Amino acid sequence: MLEPATATTATTATPDGAAGDATWWRQAVVYQVYPRSFADSNGDGTGDLPGLTARVPHLAHLGVDAVWLSPFYPSELADGGYDVADHRDVDPRIGTLEQFDELVAALHGAGIKLIVDIVPNHSSDRHPWFRQALAAAPGSPERERYVFRRGRGEHGELPPSDWTAAFGGPAWEHVGDGEWYLHLFAPEQPDWNWANPEVREDHLRTLRFWADRGVDGFRIDVAHALTKDMSLPLPTAAELAADDLPDGAHRLFDREEVHEVYREWRRLFDSYDPPRTAVAEAWVPAHRRSRYASPDGLGQAFNFDLLRSAFDACSFRAVVEENLALAARAGSSSTWVLSNHDVVRHATRYALPDGADEEAWLLSGGTEPPADHERGLRRARAATAFVLALPGSTYLYQGEELGLPEVADLPAGALQDPTWVRSGGTRKGRDGCRVPLPWKASGTSFGFGPGPAHLPQPGWYADFAADAQDGDPASTLEFYRRALARRARLRCAEDLEWVEGTPEGVVAFRRPGGWTCATNFGTEPVPLPAGRVVLSSGPIGETLLGGETTVWLEDEAGAAR
Ligand code: GLC
Repeated sequence: MLEPATATTATTATPDGAAGDATWWRQAVVYQVYPRSFADSNGDGTGDLPGLTARVPHLAHLGVDAVWLSPFYPSELADGGYDVADHRDVDPRIGTLEQFDELVAALHGAGIKLIVDIVPNHSSDRHPWFRQALAAAPGSPERERYVFRRGRGEHGELPPSDWTAAFGGPAWEHVGDGEWYLHLFAPEQPDWNWANPEVREDHLRTLRFWADRGVDGFRIDVAHALTKDMSLPLPTAAELAADDLPDGAHRLFDREEVHEVYREWRRLFDSYDPPRTAVAEAWVPAHRRSRYASPDGLGQAFNFDLLRSAFDACSFRAVVEENLALAARAGSSSTWVLSNHDVVRHATRYALPDGADEEAWLLSGGTEPPADHERGLRRARAATAFVLALPGSTYLYQGEELGLPEVADLPAGALQDPTWVRSGGTRKGRDGCRVPLPWKASGTSFGFGPGPAHLPQPGWYADFAADAQDGDPASTLEFYRRALARRARLRCAEDLEWVEGTPEGVVAFRRPGGWTCATNFGTEPVPLPAGRVVLSSGPIGETLLGGETTVWLEDEAGAAR
């Protein structure tokens, strides 16, 4: 049996976060929908809004509090929709504004909030303002909305600096008149100039546009970029990457001025009742995250630490301790993420030997090193139950409720992620977690839609289909449903008390109301902690907690719930 608790980590106690109040986001379960791969209603191979609306019952049955919808705006798909040509419309392949309103109504009718993705660092090169900028002369107000600079060399034939873009290749594109534009991502994603008031005003308009349509919150893409110091001389790539730069001194990322932008956004969010929420995707050191999460800023920030952590007791506990403290300091709640549209699915990450190079594994088509999928799923379910018991919000990624592994053997010709081409075929990219979902074990595109899917689905998708798992108590889908239903019943103040003295490899903590979560990260069984087991991520014995398994227990006082 576990020893009594001896250590306490107190976090901000808050109201219970019930739907409808202004703090609903603090402990919400948010489900990310990557719309092109969720459900296709018309058979064109691309998921769409009517497809999603038709699946709202699935989300309601799953028990999520909110949906985060990745970009559904008009886009040439140079970066899976994160190249936005019109921030205030719906891509015709995905639907219409009217269908968007129908989605909002269906979600709200089911008690589910909606968060949409805002992409403020860059637009698409098809955005009308970028087309105008290209047509206009150097020095014109049209060019001032983006980051144009004269190239080096007598005729501007060399890029203004040697910086590289996130997907590979140079970060500058020549426009033929001696000027170059900056793109931190693909060349089709020119960076906005946030020093320009017109750009700021236009984004406020966008936020208002969606908030007025009933959107409850926003996920802010690359929130740490936006404002940049582009004064001359520009630093070299090596100077830019220096690791001894003081906080806030990087020319492109995590600058202090970006918080002026978010303070202004916060005033807009708070003018709504209830206030609109926001969560920052900010790739900054942990100690800088709280700036984005502060109540006068975006309010919450993603913590991606578990994406980089092995399935290991010490790492998981350290990540939790640090992030609860950081969130409390920011006046926010922590976020927990195991999978999203940018990373290898966690059922697969945990199937690889610890320390395996995921990029190399993808390049090998998922063969080298061999993956132990059974183990991966066992650990994935244990990790999911662990994070769902923590104070804060959990962000789930579509398909993880089916236990979906990564599709690692997509043929090169099918790949859509710009990473593949931009890296010269040295990085396969993120398509393997974006393959359209299997809703049915048989039929065209496994029930994704009436036509073929836009990325090829493997035959083994049948084993993971939602209809094959429905009603099977041993399935991952039913496990997620049980976990979310139980979590909703156990919802409590944001406090956590560690249980000390656990066997090696076991992490356990208590939540208010007599709820204990214990995870055995090791492979050998350990004694089950005291209490009534109300959830387990895998089979357990009468008295033993098996390896790589999480249990939730209630004490006598809580047993009535
Ligand atoms: C974010 C998105 C990613 C996208 C990038 C550029 O990191 O999550 O998918 O490629 O921003 O917009």
